[in-house]
Amino acid sequence: MADMSRYLFDNTDARTPDRFSVLESCYDHFSRRQLLLTGLAPGWRCLEVGGGGGSLGDWLAQQVGPDGEVTVTDLDPRWAQSRPHPPQVRLLRHDIVNDPLPGDGYDVIHARLVLLHLPERLDVLDRLVAALRPGGRLVLDEFDCTWTPPLAAPDEAAVSLFQHVHSALLTQLEKAGADPLWGRRTLAALTNAGLTEVTSTTYAESWPGGGKGIGLHRVNMQQAREGLLADGITDEELTRFYALLDNPAFVVNSYPLISTQGCK
Ligand SMILES: C[S@@+](CC[C@H](N)C(=O)[O-])C[C@H]1O[C@@H](n2cnc3c(N)ncnc32)[C@H](O)[C@@H]1O
Repeated sequence: MADMSRYLFDNTDARTPDRFSVLESCYDHFSRRQLLLTGLAPGWRCLEVGGGGGSLGDWLAQQVGPDGEVTVTDLDPRWAQSRPHPPQVRLLRHDIVNDPLPGDGYDVIHARLVLLHLPERLDVLDRLVAALRPGGRLVLDEFDCTWTPPLAAPDEAAVSLFQHVHSALLTQLEKAGADPLWGRRTLAALTNAGLTEVTSTTYAESWPGGGKGIGLHRVNMQQAREGLLADGITDEELTRFYALLDNPAFVVNSYPLISTQGCK
């Protein structure tokens, strides 16, 4: 069997549903808006790569109706499998790096926050483009993980603490083969992959301490804890970081989600 590709935030962790819940509540409305711009219509065949909790796959199924088809893949689909889905959704355990694609001639292919994590992202991109029908659309929604300015803070020490711990997380991501800047590289990558009419739109919001969105930082740090400690972050810093995430006087910009789409 081929090697599984690396992914820092492995879905076996019991806190994974917290991550999917934040992504769904903060970003699904924006991803849906961007997907509607493809012309999404009844009867379309869609591929949702690395579908995570599966919420967008279910929404795509509503849009394409009973004559459409939605294939939702994930390296580890256990969380999407834990609940029912519309009949036109096919859930697959599938590695987008190493497995043959589950089909071709798709009308639309969507992936959110998947290629960012994959060192082989440009090869995967070429394979996704090849799996589109002529005129089909690829939509990639990806973060620029580096643009997370604090928007309000109880003091300067809080800003420094956030930036110190967050930059250590970016190092962990890079060590696992992720590209924290992938979001801002996708427009050029889709153009270089031969797509036309390539455009990007970016969404961000404020994440106050104690709110839902900022909880993404908690689950990410908890899951990367071992590597953070090995790189010199202390448990005391992590404790203060978690307290900051609960403090309404601290507000941080969400990760900007850059949605890029192009036509084959
Ligand atoms: C950050 S989560 C995003 C989940 C979902 N797309 C969303 O935005 O809510 C990344 C997802 O990609 C999946 N993934 C990672 N590597 C993958 C691979 N090689 N093939 C397929 N899925 C992969 C993970 O298992 C995880 O569910």
